[in-house]
Amino acid sequence: MLDTLEYVTKADLSKRPAQVAAMFDEVAEGYDRTNAVLSMGNATLWRVATTKAVGPKRGERILDMAAGTGTSSASLAASGAHVVAGDFSPGMIEVGRKRQAHMSNIEFVEADATALPFADNEFDAVTISFGLRNVVEPEKALAEFYRVTKPGGRVVICEFSTPPVGFVRWGYGCYQRYVMPTLVKLASTNDAAYDYLNESIREWPDQRTLASWLRRAGFTGVEFRNLTLGVVALHRGVKPLAAADAAQEAPAVEAVPAAAPAAETKAAEQATAKPAAAKPAAAKPAPAKATAAKPAAVKPAAAKPAPAKPAAAKPAPAKPSTAKPRTPETPPASPPETAAS
Ligand SMILES: C[S@@+](CC[C@H](N)C(=O)[O-])C[C@H]1O[C@@H](n2cnc3c(N)ncnc32)[C@H](O)[C@@H]1O
Repeated sequence: MLDTLEYVTKADLSKRPAQVAAMFDEVAEGYDRTNAVLSMGNATLWRVATTKAVGPKRGERILDMAAGTGTSSASLAASGAHVVAGDFSPGMIEVGRKRQAHMSNIEFVEADATALPFADNEFDAVTISFGLRNVVEPEKALAEFYRVTKPGGRVVICEFSTPPVGFVRWGYGCYQRYVMPTLVKLASTNDAAYDYLNESIREWPDQRTLASWLRRAGFTGVEFRNLTLGVVALHRGVKPLAAADAAQEAPAVEAVPAAAPAAETKAAEQATAKPAAAKPAAAKPAPAKATAAKPAAVKPAAAKPAPAKPAAAKPAPAKPSTAKPRTPETPPASPPETAAS
């Protein structure tokens, strides 16, 4: 998650999609190693916390967007759930397919988070770890996450954030300025990496702002929980069940797929105090298909066809987790530390 920043420096914070994808292609091989070093071991803990928040179960269909090399997907797939690992970097996907070849329930798909090649209401849960910050239009991605999530389904976002305590922010700033450059030199082939990393984290909105984006996309029950004193935050929300009723009531959904997001947005507005202003998925009118009861088995037309599933061993035994992040949206003065800290 940290190595991502190689090849893009301060001047490149506009994050053009092609440039971001090319950057990840370049760092794909060493990505996981650099991650482990720069996070000083915390990356594993953050993944465990994220998987617990998603709570994947055997038989569920989970979308892990910006999955990169699939390390986050593997953690989710250990439950027995079917995990679609989406990413727009062919290089990251190639490494991921090799690395996760032993997990037959991980399916890598080349996909842009802002124009997902999936049907409405297709996934029981959608998650993204250390990816949303790199998406050029993050709110457009959230609107897409909402569209493809089943009514009643959940969204979980793990991303760098802003430590709420001043002293911790100061310490983290020192780490970024003085320690990380050295670690980057040791762990990565491109020591420009930390420039983009630090800047992109500074530019990224804080916990409350991201929570407001999730609500604006239509999600309800939005909560976040700080990990490692707020260096990372775990957000989650639920697509309201009312979205299913609204979709069923909208007669134009089948005939005019583009109407579906509008219907969902309306339902979300009714279900939440704050109106949703989610932009519907731009150019890709996915076939309207209410799949609230069972996971979709057929993939809709995609920009690129989904690659073949890796052949391999059987999925690991089911290990559903029940733990959930419970920190309310308004964090206490002293953030509750977590299993991941
Ligand atoms: C820091 S990596 C995170 C990988 C993985 N989730 C993890 O936690 O290790 C960020 C990933 O986001 C992907 N990404 C960035 N923008 C994207 C977009 N618009 N659509 C799909 N993937 C994107 C990059 O290709 C990269 O693999």
